[in-house]
Amino acid sequence: MKQIFVIGASGQIGSELTMELRHRYGGNNVVAGYINGAEPKGVLRDSGPMELADITDPVALARVVQKYKIDTIYNLAALLSVVAESKPRLAWHIGIDGLWNVLEVARENGCAVFTPSSIGSFGPETPAQLTPQDTIQRPQTMYGITKVSGELLSDYYFRKYGVDTRAVRFPGIISYTTPPGGGTTDYAVEIYYSAVRGEDFTCPIAAGTKMDMMYMPDALHAAISLMEADPTRLIHRNAFNIASMSFDPEEIYGTIKALKPDFKMSYQVETLKQSIADSWPDFLDDSSARQEWDWEPHYDLQRMSKDMLEKLAEKL
Ligand code: SER
Repeated sequence: MKQIFVIGASGQIGSELTMELRHRYGGNNVVAGYINGAEPKGVLRDSGPMELADITDPVALARVVQKYKIDTIYNLAALLSVVAESKPRLAWHIGIDGLWNVLEVARENGCAVFTPSSIGSFGPETPAQLTPQDTIQRPQTMYGITKVSGELLSDYYFRKYGVDTRAVRFPGIISYTTPPGGGTTDYAVEIYYSAVRGEDFTCPIAAGTKMDMMYMPDALHAAISLMEADPTRLIHRNAFNIASMSFDPEEIYGTIKALKPDFKMSYQVETLKQSIADSWPDFLDDSSARQEWDWEPHYDLQRMSKDMLEKLAEKL
């Protein structure tokens, strides 16, 4: 039986990943790790154990791992790209010093580790279309720098110490449960909230700017199925390109408008977000993930938009 520790369990991905893992492996077998000020609430609090576990505190991490005899760690702690630009030192401290703490506790206690990378790990010199699995990675954001460094450090721990590290490069993740905070791709979540509230949407990203995006159920499925994959088939580890849809603001607006004809969008482009978006790929080639662990997404823009609007209407 798996004993799982989710670091960053109150965040956008962590909150839903914890619930999905509890559904699959049993509530008591999945510990929700949180930081001060982000204590789990509601069903997340009531469905299994939770522990204060700041990724920058190696003693706290070791205490949780030993107390629950953890064998698998999902490390979801991170600052997203825009906020990391205003707090680069903190982004490094969480993304790299924190990851170091996780990898050390994993090495000492025989845990497998999942730490997401991102489309942000690429930069302006990367081929933007059908971005290969193995290609140039020279990101210009602190977020991207921590993600590339995290990929390398995770591969290092696998090669040198045999720690079972695995990761995917997440695109912008779209969900209706916990909002993201401070990312470049957040507009693709906010647009649905505006549409359901009957408000006009002001888009901070310019028309024509394509980025990879993914609906949360596919993102959860990717993380869990990679961690369950047969290790003898894995040629890559940190980190796999995954993809399900790529669109620009006009395309997501058009899809929502077809379902909500009164919806209106205008543009007020934010310079920092736009420059980050311009440095990221348009769409990734995910054939290595498909070959090595049978990755396959289930949602396209159409199907996701229908579901997002329905679920948000119930929620709001
Ligand atoms: N969603 C992230 C961001 O925009 C990218 O992985 O920062």
